[in-house]
Amino acid sequence: MNIYALHLSQLQQRTESALARCGFDALLIASGIEKYAFLDDRPYLFQPNPHFKHWLPLVNHPNSWLLLRPGHKPRVVYYQPDDYWHVPPSSPTGEWVEHVELIVISRAEDAAAHLKAPGRLAIIGEADAALDGVVPNNPTELLNLLHYPRACKSEYELEQMRAASRRAAPAHLAARDAFLAGASEAEIHRAYLIAAGHTDRDLPYGNIVALNEHCAVLHYQYQDEQRPAESLSFLIDAGAQVNGYASDITRAWTHGNAASAEFDALLAAMESAQLALVDEVRAGVDYREIHLSTHRRIAAILQAQGIVKMSVEAQIAERVTSIFMPHGTGHLLGLQVHDVGGFMADESGALSPKPEGHPYLRLTRTLQPGMVVTIEPGLYFIPTLLRQLRASPASASVDWALVERLSRFGGIRIEDDVVCRAEGGPENMTRDAFAAL
Ligand code: GLY
Ligand code: MN
Ligand code: MN
Repeated sequence: MNIYALHLSQLQQRTESALARCGFDALLIASGIEKYAFLDDRPYLFQPNPHFKHWLPLVNHPNSWLLLRPGHKPRVVYYQPDDYWHVPPSSPTGEWVEHVELIVISRAEDAAAHLKAPGRLAIIGEADAALDGVVPNNPTELLNLLHYPRACKSEYELEQMRAASRRAAPAHLAARDAFLAGASEAEIHRAYLIAAGHTDRDLPYGNIVALNEHCAVLHYQYQDEQRPAESLSFLIDAGAQVNGYASDITRAWTHGNAASAEFDALLAAMESAQLALVDEVRAGVDYREIHLSTHRRIAAILQAQGIVKMSVEAQIAERVTSIFMPHGTGHLLGLQVHDVGGFMADESGALSPKPEGHPYLRLTRTLQPGMVVTIEPGLYFIPTLLRQLRASPASASVDWALVERLSRFGGIRIEDDVVCRAEGGPENMTRDAFAAL
């Protein structure tokens, strides 16, 4: 059996067992529907139901459905309208076709007739996807049983995610080259898209393309058309998508000249810390420990670089590192950039708490083989948080003149996509993709 067939058979088994445990006889999954701006006929970008693309590499297919029943092939009700305003989904092709029972419809409402099954139905989908007699009920118990194991990827999924890293890596280098040539954020963004072979529509999340102080805005959402008078630093958080699976990659750059020497020292220290954190991704490790390890490493860097003259322990006790690294170390990655289930203690839906004082951590699980996580430590000079630090007792231990000089560079984040292995060190899909260039 090839990896896609194995993936499907694992999903089928998982679904049958989850249905039996919850007392359901069949599962329907809606691909989703297009949504429109208020009082307008402009559609928002279609976002498929992740449960649907878990089974099928179909991401631009609104109004389609999956019917899953124990002992039956998946039934795909495939919506292919006769539409001359838009390009409809192409005729079904690809490996998935031979693994399913395929029904093609040209009117969305015709799906209902093909979604009938005896007994109790679980229906996963957004409320707006409802058809006559087919109303999503999204049973929590069933969703928990499906969400918990989704953290561990099949070999098929890992292949898509490796390809998503391979697609993004050359685009990151094109973006870096554009920065080095003095381009604006908007120009860098376009260089990235061209090299990735993506348009904005294809990205797994909006690119973060930041120059100078903008690097201190964690989710900086604009791309300035203006070239800055002086382009000191560049942070790019940008991924790619392959068959509905995401990569999520961040790099930080400077021109590496005398003007950036202090910041470059920080950048080199963060690079070492990030690689050490990646190496902590091992089966049985609690991800919360990696997050706390990040804070200890950041404290050591702040001390070593002379930014904060306090011991690691004192910085942690007074929460100084949270000023400079105010987000989580990473998250689950897969069909969604922030993949579902990061806080689940088990498949019952019980939650694992975040460590006290770390409200933005998105992953509190113990690592298992096949899990894909990001490792993305950062160190930023964020004016609003620095004001808090100035007002705290720790202020006396901060070299504020140095902070001011470094603030012009905004900040650093370095992010890789990492697979936990059954034994030994992790697979770093992102570094592997860069190394292959
Ligand atoms: N690109 C969003 C994140 O890194 O979580
Ligand atoms: Mn991320
Ligand atoms: Mn990211």
